[in-house]
Amino acid sequence: MKWSHFIILQGLLIIIVGSLVYIHKDRVALMKTPPASLAQWYKPENKRQVWLHNMFKLRREMQAVRFYSDNSDAEHLEKWVTLLSKHYLKVGEMVPEWNKKLDLETISTLQKSAQNNHYQKVSRGLDDLDKSCKSCHTDYRAITATMYRAPDFSSVEISPSISLKKHMKDLSKQVNQIKIASEDGMKDLALSSLLDLKKGINTLGETCSSCHKKDTRIYPGGTIKKAIISLEKSLRTGTLKDQGKNLGTLAVLACARCHGTHRLSHDIRKTFVDRPSWLELIKH
Ligand code: HEC
Ligand code: HEC
Ligand code: HEC
Repeated sequence: MKWSHFIILQGLLIIIVGSLVYIHKDRVALMKTPPASLAQWYKPENKRQVWLHNMFKLRREMQAVRFYSDNSDAEHLEKWVTLLSKHYLKVGEMVPEWNKKLDLETISTLQKSAQNNHYQKVSRGLDDLDKSCKSCHTDYRAITATMYRAPDFSSVEISPSISLKKHMKDLSKQVNQIKIASEDGMKDLALSSLLDLKKGINTLGETCSSCHKKDTRIYPGGTIKKAIISLEKSLRTGTLKDQGKNLGTLAVLACARCHGTHRLSHDIRKTFVDRPSWLELIKH
């Protein structure tokens, strides 16, 4: 094939792919993902969340530099500017792909202005540096926190033969079985399903302590236990309306609360970490 033909073909291909993405732009969310080299600064590759701690240092150092330049305190200013510069440059050392995102000119001007006691220039330098912080944060902060810090439930299991997902499906069936049986007047089935649900909830509660060590989370706690008792009572003697209300309350306390934190972040993390393939996206 002639070179010119090859280039024209490539060009056409780019235009076709580009148009496809553009046509679907309302239904596609494009996100930048952080470079893989970031992983080494997070668990499990690292014992500590080194990246995040460097960020906390940067925020503290920005505050200190602002404080001492406002107060024209040359000695302390020098100390904190040096630290700020060190940890700002560390960003590019830790993730070389992000070196080009650093505003090296601003950080060196900032250092010079501090050395020469040009306090107003220091203040302006901080404003410029802040723009560099923000620009990276807009693109990468949320996705990084989700990918590297959201609790990962993929290895949590109920028993070697029962995955968390399977257990969740069972819990959900039990909740709905209670609702169906209650609506159709099958009291015994409703009560036996509630008993199963209660057992399932207790079993689930044994998994919390694998992560919640210090803040020993008691699941089911007192409020959930009370909700189960109220539901049981209403299934025996209450009205259909009471039964529905009590079941709703239990579902919020025992399921939705945890889903609001854990299922949400687990699902989002999963989409970022094991990204769906293009084929899957197109098929769906
Ligand atoms: C090249 C990218 C990049 C640059 C530049 C950058 N950050 Fe960050 N920063 C991040 C990422 C990624 C996170 C998310 C980390 C996480 O949540 O685990 C973050 C998180 C933070 C956090 C934690 C936010 C929170 O409240 O939980 C602070 C504070 C922070 N950065 C301060 C700064 C400051 C101050 C600067 C500028 C002097 C700066 N960062 C520059 C990438 C960057
Ligand atoms: C894989 C680890 C892990 C497991 C297992 C786990 N949690 Fe958590 N949970 C966390 C972490 C970490 C946080 C702190 C917030 C965050 O980072 O999302 C948290 C926060 C929460 C929160 C919201 C904040 C709070 O403290 O009120 C609730 C509610 C919660 N967990 C409930 C549970 C329940 C109930 C279980 C067991 C059925 C459980 N978690 C099991 C890691 C875990
Ligand atoms: C740890 C807190 C936690 C509690 C408490 C909890 N869930 Fe879940 N649930 C999760 C997580 C995490 C997932 C995602 C599991 C996965 O995809 O592997 C999930 C997923 C599910 C799913 C989807 C399963 C699937 O097929 O993908 C259902 C249905 C469900 N939960 C029902 C319930 C019901 C009903 C209750 C209350 C009786 C409940 N869950 C209580 C954390 C919790």
